[in-house]
Amino acid sequence: MPPVHDGADAMPDRLLLGQTLTFAGDPFAEGPGAARHERQGAVLVSAGRIAAVGPAGALRSAHPVAETVDYGTALISAGFVDSHAHYPQTAIIASWGKRLIDWLNLYTFPEEMRFADPAYAAAVAARHLDLLTAHGTTTVCTYATIHPGSVDAYLAEAGRRGMRVVAGRTAMDRNAPAGLTDSARAAHDETEALIARWHGCGRLGVAITPRFAPTSSPGQLDALGALWAAHPDCLMQTHLAEQTDEVAWVARLFPGARDYLDVYEAAGLLGPRAVFGHCIHLTSRERARLSEAGASVAHCPTSNSFIGSGLFDLAGLAGGRVRVGLATDTGGGSSFSMLRTMAAAYEIAQLRGHAVHPSQLWWLATAGAARALHLDDRIGRLAPGMEADLVVLDLASTPAIAQRAARAGDLWEALFPTIMMGDDRAVRAVWVDGAPVALPGR
Ligand code: GUN
Ligand code: ZN
Repeated sequence: MPPVHDGADAMPDRLLLGQTLTFAGDPFAEGPGAARHERQGAVLVSAGRIAAVGPAGALRSAHPVAETVDYGTALISAGFVDSHAHYPQTAIIASWGKRLIDWLNLYTFPEEMRFADPAYAAAVAARHLDLLTAHGTTTVCTYATIHPGSVDAYLAEAGRRGMRVVAGRTAMDRNAPAGLTDSARAAHDETEALIARWHGCGRLGVAITPRFAPTSSPGQLDALGALWAAHPDCLMQTHLAEQTDEVAWVARLFPGARDYLDVYEAAGLLGPRAVFGHCIHLTSRERARLSEAGASVAHCPTSNSFIGSGLFDLAGLAGGRVRVGLATDTGGGSSFSMLRTMAAAYEIAQLRGHAVHPSQLWWLATAGAARALHLDDRIGRLAPGMEADLVVLDLASTPAIAQRAARAGDLWEALFPTIMMGDDRAVRAVWVDGAPVALPGR
């Protein structure tokens, strides 16, 4: 039986004081006016949920017996949501000198082999979750490895911490080393057993996870498509159109397909709960199909520059038409921090001639990512009834940031230095499931 987290049901109501920032809509569709900011705000946390959000004075009067936790001028936000990561690559982050396919073969696959050992998987799972917490990330949708024990290790540890996470057993039955390949049947059956064991257990979820088209035979993709049809409430996550030589390889492996996305669609792997990582080198047909199908895209900007993949078209995809969430893609991504990831998204959009507003960056890392994972009814915003996963940020966490923020004329100018230069030093507190958690390493 998976471990059950105690939750915060027995805790007294807490009133958190500080600046608050959240969203009433999508700033890509509505502009920065979709944000809601209180300079002297408050969040009432009760039994693991957000019970109220508003001006500090009004909430103090309305809830006189709630314990107050005063964060001063720090910013209280929904915790960050990382919509695509590979926890087994934690120890190989920042591995030098390769592009995607060589990087997988040289660094990633040998490391993922080590997850046959459940003790190693448990150690890295705990390390990854510690790193997420230290960086203010409260939810992640992660790939594990081919070993079911790697999913067990991650979800057991997240469950002990009361975190809302999704993890998937990564399926591969070709073009990967022996020892890291399975079969169509094993991928189907072992993923189905994991769904039975974990999916919907507390705050945990299982995603159906073919790694990407080059490492799955058509038969394995079909088997996972059938599994998804039988478990339509699961997410399905995979990679799409990350590098040009990968796209060309897929065209050679699947000569009958119209394009890369068509490979997945033909196998029943396109639908509203699909989360496609990267999506840089898309044809106009693929863009249109992603939008029509209501699929989600995980934008992984630090990875896209680190592995040399290309410049994601954020303005074209996020402008209300495709669900886009921000993601670290560690260890192809070069940071565990969603602040560093927002900065990279800004810079990549600049290289395409588009300035992304800070409200849009913040939304992509919170409400937008939650929406991409179909968790936006539970997490990603400060609103009554939402689960109380919070990050509290110091907007003057280093001398360089502090001196720039001191010049700020409004919220966005005050926030942008932390977006562009901030990291885990900006994280003052993290709340998970209605309770404050110790920040690892502090
Ligand atoms: N494509 C297939 N597998 C991977 C992976 O592990 N990382 C990245 N960035 N791209 C992939
Ligand atoms: Zn990835």
